[in-house]
Amino acid sequence: MKSPYYHKKNFTLYHGNCIDLLHKIEENSVDMIFADPPYFLSSGTFTCQNGKMVSVKKGDWDLSNGLKKNFEFHQEWINACKRVLKPNGTIWISGTYHSIYQCGFALEIAGFHILNDIAWFKPNASPNLSCRFFTASHETLIWARKNKNAKHTFNYDLMKDGDWEEDQLKKKGLQMRSVWSINTLKPSEKNWGKHPTQKSFDLLRRIVLASTNINDLIIDPFTGSSTTGLAAYRYGRRFIGIDIETIYLDLSIKRFRELDKQLQQIKSIANDALLHRHTHKDNLIHA
Ligand SMILES: C[S@@+](CC[C@H](N)C(=O)[O-])C[C@H]1O[C@@H](n2cnc3c(N)ncnc32)[C@H](O)[C@@H]1O
Repeated sequence: MKSPYYHKKNFTLYHGNCIDLLHKIEENSVDMIFADPPYFLSSGTFTCQNGKMVSVKKGDWDLSNGLKKNFEFHQEWINACKRVLKPNGTIWISGTYHSIYQCGFALEIAGFHILNDIAWFKPNASPNLSCRFFTASHETLIWARKNKNAKHTFNYDLMKDGDWEEDQLKKKGLQMRSVWSINTLKPSEKNWGKHPTQKSFDLLRRIVLASTNINDLIIDPFTGSSTTGLAAYRYGRRFIGIDIETIYLDLSIKRFRELDKQLQQIKSIANDALLHRHTHKDNLIHA
C-alpha cells in the first residue's frame, strides 16, 4: 500500500483513485463501508442555495460520462468494496435519483443483500427555482450486507432508545424507522470551508452507531471532507478515507484536528474532575 496522505491515531487518509487503492487493501478486512459516490449531475445550469443562484457544477469528478460509463464505474468500485468487506460486513451508499438506482442495481448484480433503503429527509432543503417540479428534499441511502446469510451488526436498542433529538420524526422509545429527518449542515460544520456535497455529522453519527462497534474498521472510498471519518473517530472506530482531490483531504485534516482538540479538552476536563474527587476523598481520609 502506498504511504498515506495523512495518518494520526485511528484516522488515515489516502490520495488517489479509490478503485486502485481498494485493490491494495487486504481482502475481508473491513467491517463497514460508507460511500457517497459522484452523482454525475454536474452541468452548466444553475440552482438556488440559501437564496443565491449557484452553478450546478460540483467538480470535474461529478461530470457525467454517459449512462453506460457511469454504471460501469459504479460496478467497478462496488466490486472493489465487496472484496475488502468482511463476510459479515455491510455497505452504505448515499445518493440522489441521479445515481442511487444505478448503485442499487450494481449492488444486486454484485450479490449484495439489501437490508434497507433510508430516506434522509432534509426539513431545511433549498427551494426549487424553476417551480416546474417538486422541491428535492431527500436523499436515499441503501444499506446492504455482503451475503444474504451474514450476521451483520445492527445496534437495535441504541437506535430505539438512544438520544435522537435532532430528528422530529423519531419518537422516544419506539423503533427507529427508515425515514430520518436530519437538517443539512450546521454553521459549525463549515468552520474550515465546505465540500460541495458535504454530509451532515448527525447523519453519519447515526450510521456509524447503528452498524458498527468500537474498534471496527470503516472505509469511505469517496471521503470528501471526511464526515464519515469524524463520526468514526468520535465514537472510537478506526477509519480509512480515500479521495482523488487533495483540496478535500486538506479540508478533512483541518476538520479532524479541530475534533481531536475538542476531544482532548473533554478528556482533560474529565481527568481534572476525577483527580479533584480523589484528592477530596484522600483529604477526608487523612482529616
Ligand atoms: C459526493 S462527494 C463525497 C462527500 C463526502 N461524503 C463529505 O461528507 O464531504 C464525492 C467525493 O468523491 C471524490 N471522488 C470522485 N471520484 C473518485 C475516485 N474515483 N476515487 C476517489 N475519490 C473520488 C470527489 O473528489 C468527492 O470529494
